[in-house]
Amino acid sequence: MIRLAVIGYGERTSWMVKCFQQADPEVAVTAVIDPNETLVRSRLPEKDQASARFFKDVPTLFRQARPDAVLIGTRCHLHSPYAIQVALYPVALFLEKPIAISMKQATSLERAFARSKCRVVVSFPLRVTPLCVLGRERIEADFIGRPEHILAVNYVPYGTCYFDGGYRNYAITQGLFLQKATHDFDYMSYLMNSPITRVAAMALKGRVFGGKKKAGLSCSKCKESPTCLESPFNRSRNTSGGTTGDHPCVFGADIGTPEKGMNEDCSSALIEFASGAQGVYTQVFFSRRDAGTRGATISGYPGTLSFDWYTNQMKYVRHHRPFTDVTTVGAGMAHFGGDSELALDFVRLIKGTHSSRTPIETGLQSVYACLAAKESSETGRFVRVRQVGQVS
Ligand SMILES: NC(=O)c1ccc[n+]([C@@H]2O[C@H](COP(=O)([O-])OP(=O)(O)OC[C@H]3O[C@@H](n4cnc5c(N)ncnc54)[C@H](O)[C@@H]3O)[C@@H](O)[C@H]2O)c1
Repeated sequence: MIRLAVIGYGERTSWMVKCFQQADPEVAVTAVIDPNETLVRSRLPEKDQASARFFKDVPTLFRQARPDAVLIGTRCHLHSPYAIQVALYPVALFLEKPIAISMKQATSLERAFARSKCRVVVSFPLRVTPLCVLGRERIEADFIGRPEHILAVNYVPYGTCYFDGGYRNYAITQGLFLQKATHDFDYMSYLMNSPITRVAAMALKGRVFGGKKKAGLSCSKCKESPTCLESPFNRSRNTSGGTTGDHPCVFGADIGTPEKGMNEDCSSALIEFASGAQGVYTQVFFSRRDAGTRGATISGYPGTLSFDWYTNQMKYVRHHRPFTDVTTVGAGMAHFGGDSELALDFVRLIKGTHSSRTPIETGLQSVYACLAAKESSETGRFVRVRQVGQVS
């Protein structure tokens, strides 16, 4: 049996536990820290419902439950404080992203792991998707020569969740570079085989979502529901995505303001890599339906590779010969196949047969790039990205 302790047993965690058990049926949830015991009991895998024990703190959990592995899946602001405590133990840790939401959290985390025997899989499914891995293999095989430029886009067709659910709480997310771009900056660095060193960014806030509707308003209490495009009725009728249950108003004053802090409607970054290559990243959160697209275009002098996870296709254009290839990937995989790959990585890390493809350094380097993008969008200046390894 592999004894798994879970800290924060929410929606994401419930799904990842299923993936772990699919990767290895020996995984059993034996210990949990989560204030909502009643809800978590109903979420636990059936075979673990009677045996899983609940704890109030990390030291007691380790003393009494002696886990082989830990999964941290609380909301974003608690990832780093819990991970710092788990770093004291020689276990395998699956750590949700973003692994920190401030420079103070990130540097404390880096310090805690500098001498730790705790081995980490950071929850970056995109980097390990078959499509992204194929892209990296092709770049390594010299399909496009030296990669000089990357354009990455993320038109999120489910972006309302950052304004009508728990993620609207800016104090917890600290904006959508940290919440969303952390994945994209990570896979961009992976493809370019180089860390991001400098960023200039902009974030558009309060033009689409947010507004003056009174705090605490939800659709069921709103007289504009019949005509509002975001009401459950109209989202269902228009198949425009997002929750079709009653939800907080996406135009509410309680989302925040550009001055005091709120999630952005869209944001973009100009990026420089240590290799000297450059890139652009754009994410849009009000796009809907077939506007959804996520992927990258990477170019060198001899050729261009581009792929899109939504169409599950990769195109390879030879710049100087009259051939273009299109490769299609099998569809129907959660997170485009990344979650099952991460689960396999985690189980192998627990057993000590493989090392992690997304170790703690990848999560830290991505957070440093996101924090630089956030700072640049607030100051209007280029910002140098802190590099992992500078913490004393
Ligand atoms: N890697 C990915 O692709 C991916 C996808 C979705 C979500 N996420 C991340 O997963 C995290 C969780 O998201 P979610 O949608 O599952 O949220 P959620 O609200 O469903 O889950 C959070 C859980 O943490 C628990 N919790 C609250 N306070 C706690 C505390 N002090 N100690 C322990 N547990 C506590 C809550 O009771 C809840 O069960 C987020 O940080 C999000 O960024 C990652």
